[in-house]
Amino acid sequence: MKEHEVAPETPGTEPQALSNLLQENRRFAPPADLAAAANVTAAAYTEAEADRLAFWESAAERLTWAKRWDSTLEWNPPFAKWFVGGELNIAYNCVDRHVEAGNGDKVAYYWEGEPEGDSRTITYADLQREVNKAANALTELGVTKGDRVAIYMPMIPELPVAMLACARVGAIHSVVFGGFSASALQSRIEDADAKLVITADGGYRRGAPSALKPTVDEAVAQTPGVEHVLVVRRTGQEVAAQERDIWWHDLVERQSDQHEAQPHDAEDPLYILYTSGTTGKPKGILHTTGGYLTQTAWTHHAVFDLKPDTDIYWCTADIGWVTGHSYIVYGPLANGATSVMYEGTPDTPHRGRFWEIIQKYKITILYTAPTAIRTFMKWGDDIPAKFDMSSLRILGSVGEPINPEAYVWYREHIGGERCPVVDTWWQTETGAIMISPLPGLTAGKPGAAMRPLPGISADVVDDQGHSVPNGGGGFLVVREPWPSMLRTIWGDDQRYIDTYWSRFEGMYFPGDGAKRDEDGDLWLLGRVDDVMLVSGHNISTTEVESALVSHPKVAEAAVVGATDPVTGQAIVSFVILRGSAEESDDIAAELRAHVAKTLGPIAKPRQILVVPELPKTRSGKIMRRLLRDVAENRSIGDVTTLADSTVMNLISDKLPSAK
Ligand code: WT7
Repeated sequence: MKEHEVAPETPGTEPQALSNLLQENRRFAPPADLAAAANVTAAAYTEAEADRLAFWESAAERLTWAKRWDSTLEWNPPFAKWFVGGELNIAYNCVDRHVEAGNGDKVAYYWEGEPEGDSRTITYADLQREVNKAANALTELGVTKGDRVAIYMPMIPELPVAMLACARVGAIHSVVFGGFSASALQSRIEDADAKLVITADGGYRRGAPSALKPTVDEAVAQTPGVEHVLVVRRTGQEVAAQERDIWWHDLVERQSDQHEAQPHDAEDPLYILYTSGTTGKPKGILHTTGGYLTQTAWTHHAVFDLKPDTDIYWCTADIGWVTGHSYIVYGPLANGATSVMYEGTPDTPHRGRFWEIIQKYKITILYTAPTAIRTFMKWGDDIPAKFDMSSLRILGSVGEPINPEAYVWYREHIGGERCPVVDTWWQTETGAIMISPLPGLTAGKPGAAMRPLPGISADVVDDQGHSVPNGGGGFLVVREPWPSMLRTIWGDDQRYIDTYWSRFEGMYFPGDGAKRDEDGDLWLLGRVDDVMLVSGHNISTTEVESALVSHPKVAEAAVVGATDPVTGQAIVSFVILRGSAEESDDIAAELRAHVAKTLGPIAKPRQILVVPELPKTRSGKIMRRLLRDVAENRSIGDVTTLADSTVMNLISDKLPSAK
């Protein structure tokens, strides 16, 4: 087994990890000029402290409402309604109002395709015409308010256009990450009961066209509820034409570019986005209209100190994840920002591509993930050093805890030692950033997300739900509802209650461990349950186990997340083969390919160990804690609750055969 250095911010709540964190005592004060001109000052904290609802009302007033709300919050725990009685149209807020204000010529997106030289500039006026045409096309297809539309697309401008067109007519979009397999797409289409799928022939990945349409064909073959598949031509790849297919260029291009946006209720659903759950079946996280846009827009303005007239902002996420929904589409557009959107991978055609893009567009704000930063560190300091990145002024991080080393490297090698790093904690469920430094205000600590934003009552509690004092560790909770919170799990209110509101009475439990240091600042420690965080993506152990067990040669499987210097956590699997199956050198490769096919490449285990037995309690529950000890090369912990305490010896004996 490979030796791995255990990074100080190792997910988990072991006291040892906690004490390591506290040795970090570097501080980076905000640059004076940034502080002097910052969008948000310390007053925001005192105002929100004095009157949380009044604070969120003033954030909501940054939007344009067709009808003002009657009451700010209706809280029927754990079900919240924000800005009750208010009406607005999200597409109008993200597009039309900027055109009406005379900013039609302003760039909304500089789109950069993966093939070099393949780029497009989309102004707010362009975006308005495209969204209107797409909204008219949806109407022609019979898509009306409340219908679900699945979107499975590469990172091309038609993706935000499709989302905004749905928002405009009140249809609920469900974007499925383009890297997911046909069966993952199918189960999401089914769960949401989507009647339309919007896709493309393919997109560019790692220097080559990568097909999407065949995956859609496979998925919709099993979903009779899908009436049409609307296909954007991106790569020009051959596609097998199905009866329900319609080309985007045939349908959308001939539509009128005029469309009257109707206001929607503040609580009308905006989208469903699926996230992995411990029980295997993905959870359809439901977000609504007024509160979601209020908090995504305000946090984007505050955390990135966005100056819409001068900043060029780039979030490197894929729109298939919540980061892209909130911080490539809704937050930035609501604020009238100019963004860069990039289709491809960071190493195509060379490992300096990101820095070349920053240099080309003179990007001022960069928002990326620790897993990417660790990869860049591994590739070497000399690569970013070749590019002029002096335009940058703020750096953001999201997706998992950022290692202090990665934070300091990011600040130095990308940010030229002048840019504050904002480590932003949030989730698909929270909809928007919840805990983060403010770049003009906070003296940042490498590895700490610092403080809850104004209006957010996050806390750290012990087992019993009592606040821990400074210096203590425990569970992160949120005590009061916030505007962009999920409203429920699509079609499953009970699961919503059980998953988020049952661990601690009256509090939202996001599933993360946290630590409050001696200054009262927060450090996030990763998931406390069995969801693994691989390259910033949540993958449930159960999902991977089910995929392994679906292979004819596998009898049983147990999966754990092990600390990995690049991906944060890596998937390590222990499998018991079926009696007839022979253990061979190929078995690990065969099973890895099988998982990739079933769940998508991101879920491919780093290692597969063939073992004779799995450690189980008397009630038959697998003790993953012990397997994690094995996967991370630790001495094995307490085995007294095992049904058979000799099992761990059998497993340890198998270690040299690790694949
Ligand atoms: C989980 C949510 C937020 C969009 C991307 C992931 C972890 C996220 C941080 C951070 C420590 C973080 C948490 C959270 N996480 N950001 N800055 N520091 N941990 O969204 O897939 O819903 O995952 O990602 O564990 O619960 P997601």
